[in-house]
Amino acid sequence: MAAGPAARPGGPSPGTARPDTAGLDTAGLDSARQLLADLPPSAAVWCSGLRKRYGRRTAVDGVSFTVGRGEVLGLLGPNGAGKTSVIKMLLGLVRPDAGEVLLLGRPGQDPQARARVGYLPELFRYQPWLTAAEVLALHVRLSGTAVPAAEQRDRLALVGLAERAGDRVGGFSKGMQQRLGLAVALVARPELVVLDEPTSALDPLGRADVRDVVLSLRDSGVAVLLNSHLIGEVERVCDRVVILDKGRVAASGTLAELLGARELRLHLEGVGAAAEQRLAAAGRLTRSGDWFSVALPDDDEAAGVPDLVADLVGHGVRVHAVEPARISLEERLLGILRDGERR
Ligand SMILES: Nc1ncnc2c1ncn2[C@@H]1O[C@H](COP(=O)(O)OP(=O)(O)OP(=O)(O)O)[C@@H](O)[C@H]1O
Ligand SMILES: [Mg+2]
Repeated sequence: MAAGPAARPGGPSPGTARPDTAGLDTAGLDSARQLLADLPPSAAVWCSGLRKRYGRRTAVDGVSFTVGRGEVLGLLGPNGAGKTSVIKMLLGLVRPDAGEVLLLGRPGQDPQARARVGYLPELFRYQPWLTAAEVLALHVRLSGTAVPAAEQRDRLALVGLAERAGDRVGGFSKGMQQRLGLAVALVARPELVVLDEPTSALDPLGRADVRDVVLSLRDSGVAVLLNSHLIGEVERVCDRVVILDKGRVAASGTLAELLGARELRLHLEGVGAAAEQRLAAAGRLTRSGDWFSVALPDDDEAAGVPDLVADLVGHGVRVHAVEPARISLEERLLGILRDGERR
């Protein structure tokens, strides 16, 4: 299901030279302006055919995806899948061997686009001699956006660090540093926020806070690219998911698309070989004591259930319970990664 290189989206590219307008009348110019204004806003992230090798190791191998404005996209995959490498290429921190990136409709290298992006890196360390408030002020200055001091304090409060604003960062716990990193990513009024494992050091309350922050960003139209191993978290906040495996897109789609596959749980007694074969024919079969789970194929839904039950009864099985269930994102992810392994 790996997406091939996408066509470069159209629309205005503010980085390009202005057209020569000398020959156009005002009415023509006005209607041209109106046309531009009516275009849908460019995607928050658009990347196509990203590739990166480190020595002989291919870390990223032709990755393409889009994050829409106000959309929360989860980037999932096992250790070493290439998630952080992709993020760093999007943000211009690692030079791709091939591929193209547009951020907020501008080339990835454009400083104007970068100034509108908030980023929480996977590994980072702030100047230990600065206070939390000073770290924020420094990043506000670097972004070139005017953010009043009160708004900066609000950001610290949002991540639960209001009381520690005047304390030096060198004395912060791991989780407090990560909270500060989140405040830094949010402080300069970004239109796109990229979070590389924002909750790896956080306590359960902190994780819930991050979830709320991400949802409120989405509500205010800010796009979020989120990379996390806490899949339950991703499932709760993400509109769409891209699953990377060995540097490639192994699957992508909305949660409804990815989790569409239904599962059937059956409590059965007296299952002989023929009945077990019939169950396995319906979908991938797992068993725990008298409980059987059948992962129904995507296109099947529950249409074949009555026939399955009738056939089981025909095989002499006593059917105690038949419960439809939806697989979790975690189960789906494991299924996709294991299929990849087998291939
Ligand atoms: N600077 C580098 N030099 C050499 N190899 C690198 C470098 N950065 C990444 N790699 C390699 O690229 C591959 C992908 O790494 P990456 O950090 O992108 O994975 P990830 O999906 O973010 O993993 P994790 O979940 O562990 O954070 C790995 O094999 C890694 O060893
Ligand atoms: Mg990583």
